[in-house]
Amino acid sequence: MTVIGERTGLERTMAFGADVIPRERFTSVAFLELEYERLWGRVWQIACRLEEIPNPGDFVEYTIGDRSALVVRDATGAVNAFANTCPHRGTRLGDGCGSFRGEIRCRFHGWRWDLEGNNTFILDDHEFPPMTDEETALAPLTVDTWGGFVFIHFGADPEPLLDFLAPIPALMDPYRPERMRYTGLKRTIMPANWKVVIDAFNEGYHLSATHPELLQWKDDAALEYEVYATHTRYGGAGEPKPSPRLGIDPSEVDQTELLARKIQDLIDNLPGYFGPDDLAALGEVARTPLPEDVTAGDYYLNRRRTGAVARGLDWTHLSDEQVLGGDDVLMFPSVLGPAVAGGWFLYRCRPNGMDPNSSIFELWTLDERTVDAPETPMPEVQVFPDPKAHDWGLIVNQDVDNFEAIQTGLRVPGRGLHWNRRQEMGVRRFHEVLDRYLFDAPT
Ligand code: FES
Ligand SMILES: [Fe+2]
Repeated sequence: MTVIGERTGLERTMAFGADVIPRERFTSVAFLELEYERLWGRVWQIACRLEEIPNPGDFVEYTIGDRSALVVRDATGAVNAFANTCPHRGTRLGDGCGSFRGEIRCRFHGWRWDLEGNNTFILDDHEFPPMTDEETALAPLTVDTWGGFVFIHFGADPEPLLDFLAPIPALMDPYRPERMRYTGLKRTIMPANWKVVIDAFNEGYHLSATHPELLQWKDDAALEYEVYATHTRYGGAGEPKPSPRLGIDPSEVDQTELLARKIQDLIDNLPGYFGPDDLAALGEVARTPLPEDVTAGDYYLNRRRTGAVARGLDWTHLSDEQVLGGDDVLMFPSVLGPAVAGGWFLYRCRPNGMDPNSSIFELWTLDERTVDAPETPMPEVQVFPDPKAHDWGLIVNQDVDNFEAIQTGLRVPGRGLHWNRRQEMGVRRFHEVLDRYLFDAPT
């Protein structure tokens, strides 16, 4: 096997340094090849959610570069994953998503398998040299679930999923992700490296320049950042409060107006952040004058908690901060976004083929349902060929508008980059962990 790092000297020129970050990490084909070779085959990644495959035979194809996996619900209700390639002549067996209706069948010569991947039919099998059941079965991949997400791993003997994910489950289980269901799935191709996109959503340092209107009610300077062995989080700053960067005297702030601004901004400019049931209740809160001497934060918290009880949701395990502001987490390497009581707003971004300047981007919005809520069909996946031609809501539009400029700027030959030690510590951590996979760098 060719060791790309040794061949090209990538380890010397592109590894994550303490202070100055080489821009080629985001632009070089050799770096992308190294990611395919050393990251994507060795990491747990979200393939889909359980609700995408509710019935026996339902499948989702998950691809990363040339790798392709089929995630299949079998007749017992278990979820299996296989390499998406026929053991006969290699044909891809499933495309996108759908149902295998009882068995998996290859289009080329009609070999067949049950939903557990065991071969059930080979035309003229007596004409083949001897083959074991294992050789004619679909090649299994390791699959596991947490929080309603189906994770797969392309490598042999992966570490247990929960060990890899720690401490994300402990942090996020109070939000009950397993009870969430999609309210939307959008997909596009972004004109930027996948890490440009991940990094852009993994810090609040860009709020003042990219989303200046948020500073009216969000104290961006109060955001807290935390990094873990593999994943990262930021959050806090849930109390509605203007950013100190605006220089507004706190005693001058009208609490009714402040709360209305926060709620209306999130409803209007981040569609999908609140689920449909939350929207009506919050819209009403935004129009209600606050009682004397009640802060916007206390009033909002109280109304959200009582609203949840009225809707049959159990938020007793969520802290006040989680109900007010939530947690913005990165599930390394490719999924991140803010959860707030009642839902999760998630971005997934991964490389697009061999083009380091392009990525596959998805926006998933998830809404918490009550334990006994009936299952409903999931929304259709919406695919947008041009990310700028779609209205994602003002806040995401502002991020999307940046990506092409970031990527074209990174391609300008130039000096190394400089990242903030506090507000961009999650970005730094992400790259440190990436380098653990790519270069065995210590983290
Ligand atoms: S390639 Fe699949 S049956 Fe021949
Ligand atoms: Fe942003």
